[in-house]
Amino acid sequence: MAEGGPVTLEVLLRLGRDMLLKAGIPDAALDARLLVERFTGTTRTDAIIDPLRPVDSETSRKILKAFERRTAGEPLHRITGSRQFYGLELSLSPATLEPRPDTETLVDAMLPLVRKTVARRGSCRILDLGTGTGAIALALLSQFPEATATGVDVSAEALATACANAERLGLSVRFSATCSDWFQNVAGLYDVIVSNPPYIPRDDIAGLARDVREHDPRAALDGGGDGLDAYRRIAAEAARFLDDDGTIGLEIGFDQRQAVTSIFEGQGFELLGSAKDLGGDDRVVIFGLPVRSQA
Ligand SMILES: C[S@@+](CC[C@H](N)C(=O)[O-])C[C@H]1O[C@@H](n2cnc3c(N)ncnc32)[C@H](O)[C@@H]1O
Repeated sequence: MAEGGPVTLEVLLRLGRDMLLKAGIPDAALDARLLVERFTGTTRTDAIIDPLRPVDSETSRKILKAFERRTAGEPLHRITGSRQFYGLELSLSPATLEPRPDTETLVDAMLPLVRKTVARRGSCRILDLGTGTGAIALALLSQFPEATATGVDVSAEALATACANAERLGLSVRFSATCSDWFQNVAGLYDVIVSNPPYIPRDDIAGLARDVREHDPRAALDGGGDGLDAYRRIAAEAARFLDDDGTIGLEIGFDQRQAVTSIFEGQGFELLGSAKDLGGDDRVVIFGLPVRSQA
């Protein structure tokens, strides 16, 4: 940093952009701005109308450290500690996946089903398996004040983050957390089950982009030998936890539609629908159970 002169928003923005550009970080100027905004609590407008606003030395040091972390390849949102998902600001922790825009496709696909259930029952009981930050459950709760959700995760640390997110968003009264290996500790019946389980084939993890491989938790990625272990586990037990007319919506890898459909059909489910993400790849499948015969 320049010796002597006051450290201002303008100086920090320029310094960050130059450091990140030199390190080959794409969107260097944008990332530098988001880091400066995060640590100074300023907005883009502040930097435009008051570029000479001084930044105290402790904050400047934190920003410099953040630039260094970013130049070393740490993802922007790991450094800021939060990320937007479906219009909600979600805190992250080392135990949570950074929620991705692709997963918003699953939320969108489930909206009509939750709406239909709310219209019929006046409420909707949602189970989110592998909830991480709580992203999917909290997004659905934010859209339906009548709905309740249980977030399940094998990681107690992830669940603590999900609960903190629910609290901060004013959704905690309708959100509960269960630490469980998929359905093991789950009780009761649900109208809608959602899940974005780990689905990367184990041997593919080493070839993932560095920011994913090194910063998303392994438990959030590793889908076993063929990437389908979690789907097998979930398909084997989901029927017991679905009320009549219940549905289950799953995020899938771009090439897993056929395989996941076969797994669920093998357990008596029928495919009700599917959706592609914004990139045009298969991303969501939705299953239901054929009407149960009356005894
Ligand atoms: C791909 S991440 C999805 C996180 C979040 N739902 C999202 O979409 O951003 C998968 C999540 O499943 C959890 N998980 C992995 N194995 C599990 C298991 N056996 N039982 C319950 N949750 C599990 C991981 O801890 C992780 O939070």
